[in-house]
Amino acid sequence: MCPFYGISQMCNFDTDIGTEELAHLEMVSTIIHQLTKGLSMEEIEKSGLGPYYIDHTVGVWPQAAGGIPFNACEFQVKGDPVTDLHEDLAAEQKARSTYDNILRVVNNTPEVADPIRFLRAREVVHFQRFGEALRNVQESLDAKNFYAFSPGFDAPVICPPNAK
Ligand SMILES: [Fe+2]
Repeated sequence: MCPFYGISQMCNFDTDIGTEELAHLEMVSTIIHQLTKGLSMEEIEKSGLGPYYIDHTVGVWPQAAGGIPFNACEFQVKGDPVTDLHEDLAAEQKARSTYDNILRVVNNTPEVADPIRFLRAREVVHFQRFGEALRNVQESLDAKNFYAFSPGFDAPVICPPNAK
């Protein structure tokens, strides 16, 4: 058995969650499109979307709620599975907290709240899966030494094709 079996198992696991996250982006973008489609100039101004409208009309342009544009800095990777899984766990909790905040703001409007509740539930599942992956990785390493080196670089494991 590969001493880093837990790391090999992560290959497909990461791809599955990554694919699902892109689908989440599509869902959120669709919600934004539906909420902004056909707005009058008065509605745009009253809602505080004036500056956004000037730059993007009502096109969906990914940015944080505070206006910071989406960029590659949103993706963190260190190349160390233990480090990266902790980052993933934090990211899932930050996503859940963001969905909690959105749910408070949308006042239970079902067209928005229902899909956001679904997305929130998925982030909880992702958090649990990343926790399992972290335990698998740590159990596959020398438990006394998994902080002594970077298992992704110092003892690299190549993902086998069709790893499950
Ligand atoms: Fe997630």
